[in-house]
Amino acid sequence: MPNVVVVGTQWGDEGKGRIVDLIAERVEVVARYQGGGNAGHTIIVGGKTVILHHIHSGILREGKLSVIGNGVVVDPGVLLEEIETLEGMGFPVTERNFALSDSAHVVMPYHKEIDRGRERKSGKSKIGTTGRGIGPVYEDKAARRGIKVSQLLNPETFQRRLMEVIEDRNLYLEHVLQMEPVSADKIFQEYSRYAERLTPYIKNTTVLINEALSAGKRVLFEGAQGTLLDIDHGTYPYVTSSNASAGGASVGTGVSPDKTGIVMGVTKAYVTRVGEGPFPTEENGEQGEKLRTHGGEFGATTGRARRCGWLDAVALRYAVMVNGIAGLAVTKLDVLSGFDSIMICTAYKYRGEILKEFPLDSDVLRGCEPVYEELPGWKEDISKVKTVDDLPHNARAYLDAVEALSGVPTWIVSLGPSREDVVFKHDPLA
Ligand code: GDP
Ligand code: IMO
Ligand code: MG
Repeated sequence: MPNVVVVGTQWGDEGKGRIVDLIAERVEVVARYQGGGNAGHTIIVGGKTVILHHIHSGILREGKLSVIGNGVVVDPGVLLEEIETLEGMGFPVTERNFALSDSAHVVMPYHKEIDRGRERKSGKSKIGTTGRGIGPVYEDKAARRGIKVSQLLNPETFQRRLMEVIEDRNLYLEHVLQMEPVSADKIFQEYSRYAERLTPYIKNTTVLINEALSAGKRVLFEGAQGTLLDIDHGTYPYVTSSNASAGGASVGTGVSPDKTGIVMGVTKAYVTRVGEGPFPTEENGEQGEKLRTHGGEFGATTGRARRCGWLDAVALRYAVMVNGIAGLAVTKLDVLSGFDSIMICTAYKYRGEILKEFPLDSDVLRGCEPVYEELPGWKEDISKVKTVDDLPHNARAYLDAVEALSGVPTWIVSLGPSREDVVFKHDPLA
């Protein structure tokens, strides 16, 4: 029985949450390896709509261990609120089914202030971040002035670390960003209370997951965001600050690369992007609006309208290569019902030349025009279809084109947001 890494192939919001919820049934442990409160996953279970940020959708399955790995950055106040909301909805979060890595870095109030202040100051050249402090906290981690979850647990260490970093961060806030400084005392009090409440969940998750693997348990590694938002492999600088691609699974959980297992890519049947940055297949007119309305493409974290466009097979092939994707989960195929024709981008045209490979320079990507293959659409509502064979001919032809252009098979097709609105072509964990 293999382990599996589930990774987004686009700029996030591919429907990873709903696919992880599905696959979680087939494993014993689900571990997130990077990202933080910037993630927003919507899952519909038994008619209840659950919106998750810090915790992944593994928590919705009884008897599974949900882990937040060392590569994740945690905003403890937000995490505690999320735990309360989940419990209020009837999804218990206990020390038996939830573990937070003692090595995860902590998002501090000054990270969020810096994130927002920088975006404001950057004006037109902003990234369009979620404002959750993600860039600044990973920056502190790399600069070796971050504060880890384990350090929150020891009041002396926490206070000393806080005093060491806060002066510098306050100087930056006041003199570079012209913002109010934050109070070390207030943060110390507030975060000490959070630490006390989180204590039962805090574990050495590296040992926990490796022991589970040694005991023959299966693990699903979940990447938040998506390949094109990866700091190394994405459309830099319009990316997030962590390794969302499959390689991050090993570093972000402390499990060796040979054990993380097969990789499944989640791809929406079209593409969306939130925030700034190049997006070759973006549709600014009527078609984009139709995708946004049909697909309900508004962010779960910030409520922003998502930019919408056609499936980009150049980017998808790139994601298949970078992640070693063995099979795909194609989501939101139902959203394409009702279009007369559907486009898939097969190559780019850049300064008169045809590009088949995804360029990593954002300026080049911004100058790329999509070369499209046009496929006929279908009118039928497909949301209740139970087998691929029952899909309209043109919907099957669209899936065939996605397989042919990506070079990998489709394992799962999602036709609606609810747990049961899904068709398996192949069960990778069967
Ligand atoms: P994630 O961040 O990758 O987990 O994706 P989001 O949850 O941010 O965005 C996906 C949205 O599409 C959510 O609102 C889901 O409920 C919804 N969704 C997921 N799969 C499907 C599907 O196959 N069809 C439809 N219509 N909606 C879906
Ligand atoms: P999920 O897990 C979509 C985008 C932001 C911005 C860029 C950097 O729901 O797929 P950050 O706050 O991370 O510094 O912002 O990354 N972004 C996402 N877009 N889905 C997400 O997560 C995202 N997380 C970050 O919009 O463009
Ligand atoms: Mg999302």
